[in-house]
Amino acid sequence: MTTAILSALPEEQGSLVSALQAPERIEHAARTFWRGRLHGHDVVLALSGIGKVAAATTAAALAERFAVRRMVFTGVAGGIGDGVQVGDVVVARDYLQHDMDASPIFERWLVPGHAGVCMACDAPLTAILLEACSACLAGFSAGFDHESESAPQAARLHHGLMVSGDRFVSTAAESQRLRAELLAAGHDALAVEMEGAAVAQVCRDYGLPFAAVRTISDRADDSAHVDFPHFVRHVAGPRADAIIHRLLQLL
Ligand code: ADE
Repeated sequence: MTTAILSALPEEQGSLVSALQAPERIEHAARTFWRGRLHGHDVVLALSGIGKVAAATTAAALAERFAVRRMVFTGVAGGIGDGVQVGDVVVARDYLQHDMDASPIFERWLVPGHAGVCMACDAPLTAILLEACSACLAGFSAGFDHESESAPQAARLHHGLMVSGDRFVSTAAESQRLRAELLAAGHDALAVEMEGAAVAQVCRDYGLPFAAVRTISDRADDSAHVDFPHFVRHVAGPRADAIIHRLLQLL
């Protein structure tokens, strides 16, 4: 069974490509895919690019051209839930597209044709991903804090709703509005990013198990544009390495 490991940016892929045994580079659909073996598993490493369309193209290629049997997304996200801080790790329970709005014809956030606004991740695969993350967590500090000199607090693991949309959320006003609108409808979103819900939708269409983990790089507020590149450059890669190696050992 081949497992796809997706990330949006090369930095979020860590050094997984160089860890591959028998690596094979394949160019397809204007993307580079790496096929190989890792911890006894056949894997394909892929970059989704940024945004929902790019991610859906990559996921569809993984299903059609590479015949993968499950997909795992690893990367970074903006924290919008209470107590979801930079350096924390969020494992998605389910996904919602926060910029999908075909109301009043359809319920807000609903992808027409799907049963509900939230798309569940695969429970068994997600349980193993949670186990991998908690095993790694002790080794993670919260990353960095560019404002305070105090020691960073320990990273925490969260599990819940992740939301995706084609926007980098970079003001406190926008992230508070996003969170409040979702909460008013009963959706307690922990983190925001730009690809996961699209991959969840493609996996649902193809009947493939999907799980996702994101390390919080910023608080989706007015300093997000400063925190994000620093975190992606220095912290995201080692996090992806640790979590994905552990996950593959557990699978
Ligand atoms: N990925 C990481 N941080 C993000 C943010 N603030 N908005 C959207 N996607 C993100």
